[in-house]
Amino acid sequence: MTRAAAVPIGTAQPGTLLIRRARRDELALLCLLRLRRTRWLVARGEDQWTTAGRGLDIEAFAGAVGRAIERGHTWVAELGGEVAGTITVDRRADRHLWSPAELAEAVIVHFMIVDAAFAGRRIGHRLLAHAATLARGDGLDWVRLDAWTTNRALHAYYRNAGFRLARIAGPATLGPSCALFERRVDTWPSALPALRRPAIG
Ligand SMILES: CC(C)(COP(=O)(O)OP(=O)(O)OC[C@H]1O[C@@H](n2cnc3c(N)ncnc32)[C@H](O)[C@@H]1OP(=O)(O)O)[C@@H](O)C(=O)NCCC(=O)NCCS
Repeated sequence: MTRAAAVPIGTAQPGTLLIRRARRDELALLCLLRLRRTRWLVARGEDQWTTAGRGLDIEAFAGAVGRAIERGHTWVAELGGEVAGTITVDRRADRHLWSPAELAEAVIVHFMIVDAAFAGRRIGHRLLAHAATLARGDGLDWVRLDAWTTNRALHAYYRNAGFRLARIAGPATLGPSCALFERRVDTWPSALPALRRPAIG
């Protein structure tokens, strides 16, 4: 992907959503979004993203997202000048999750967060559509992701967003995020132009 190109969806006016690459100086803010949403999950009785549930601790999250920002793979959704959410889209996944053939035909979504203050506006759906636009631009057919294995409400969210459960990767000892969801790129409306860019590395 080119470093410079942002993908505007709407303009940066109040009430319209802009999806653009995350900047280095936004890493702390993305960590804050992660911590806040983890607290929200715990309050719901979920162990998703907690270290007790074998989730990444915040330092590991910061390291992974910091590297993704450097590669141009992390995006933010900005609404009225405020960062409302984030998504990382690349071609990487743990080896035990997707097969090499599945990886070869897909972008992989990671670290999708929408701040609870912006819930209910389907910003996550827009971020997933953005992942589809990136996939389409690289001639790939699928958007794939792994979701927390035990969080059924999260699975329902992805089903509602048009994804299907491909399988639960196993055994569970491999990690806590093994519910593999996928959606074909051609099931999204193709109104957004496919941007020509080098393949996502
Ligand atoms: C998933 C997410 C990005 C979706 O953002 P969005 O499209 O703007 O949707 P909302 O935040 O309005 O959530 C939609 C519904 O899904 C539910 N939901 C979202 N993530 C959930 C989760 N991890 N666990 C349980 N329920 C979840 C919300 O409670 C909401 O339910 P409701 O309609 O009954 O109120 C956002 O909800 C989020 O950051 N969730 C927590 C972090 C997360 O799980 N990220 C995905 C990791 S694979």
